[in-house]
Amino acid sequence: MRTLLLLLAAPLIGWAADKPVDAGPYVPSPQSVVSDMLKLADIGPQDFVIDLGSGDGRIVLTAAKVFGASGFGVEIKDELVKLSNAAAQKEGVAGRVRFIKADLFKTDISKATVLTMYLLPDTVNMLKDKLLGELKPGTKVLSHDYPLSGWIPEKYVQMDLEDKVKISGVTTTLIYLYMVPARVQGRWSASVPASVGKGPLTLNLKQQVTRVSGSARLEGREAVLEDLKIRGDRISFRLAGRKVAFAGTVKGNAIEGQVDAGGAKSPWRATLGK
Ligand SMILES: C[S@@+](CC[C@H](N)C(=O)[O-])C[C@H]1O[C@@H](n2cnc3c(N)ncnc32)[C@H](O)[C@@H]1O
Repeated sequence: MRTLLLLLAAPLIGWAADKPVDAGPYVPSPQSVVSDMLKLADIGPQDFVIDLGSGDGRIVLTAAKVFGASGFGVEIKDELVKLSNAAAQKEGVAGRVRFIKADLFKTDISKATVLTMYLLPDTVNMLKDKLLGELKPGTKVLSHDYPLSGWIPEKYVQMDLEDKVKISGVTTTLIYLYMVPARVQGRWSASVPASVGKGPLTLNLKQQVTRVSGSARLEGREAVLEDLKIRGDRISFRLAGRKVAFAGTVKGNAIEGQVDAGGAKSPWRATLGK
């Protein structure tokens, strides 16, 4: 990591509005890491891949050529953008992928179903708000070597690669796979079937990115939400002290799903309070 930091140390100062971007030198991911990243995300023809800081385009080109995906790369260095677009033409995937010269911080990433990056640790972390603000719940985020602090990865792979010694000074290579969670923080009012209880159910959810905790109020009693999990737009939990398991899909300000009360399954719906 020390050498990569040195290599790329001419920092990404100037990413803020109106300042010129100094992106530092270009360091490609070894091709085996590119393949491993894309396999880890289980990408396919249905995916739209965006690589932030796309270098010579290898991640998006491989996603298109090997996995049939479409997408784009954003890169600040003009010569790398030209090289990548020429490679896309030559390899017959220019209809599905393109490379644009732009500052990644100012690029709309909302179309991604898979977002990839191999950037400085500070840059990766400066992107967290942008990722949460623009990416749809369920979007997969892959980071080569550097984690998003405070996010719990879905998957995490560590390997040793001789190729990395000249880049980072060590053989250790890490790939982190995250899934963008739906935002569920707040007070929700739910209608539940009689098999669960009488009257409305109130849920109070607290969220820190991928970590969620909360409590419920039903029939005048408070219950902790157990096994509360959020994965993309899917949420599930159990009510402590009752044999009921909720599962649902978050759709903006609503959750719709099924509740299993001792084997009897019924629909339930919740809406986010103002
Ligand atoms: C370590 S290289 C990774 C290249 C490629 N993603 C790969 O994995 O092979 C990082 C790339 O990000 C580009 N970059 C850094 N900051 C950027 C910014 N703010 N906007 C666009 N590109 C940027 C650099 O020019 C460099 O080519």
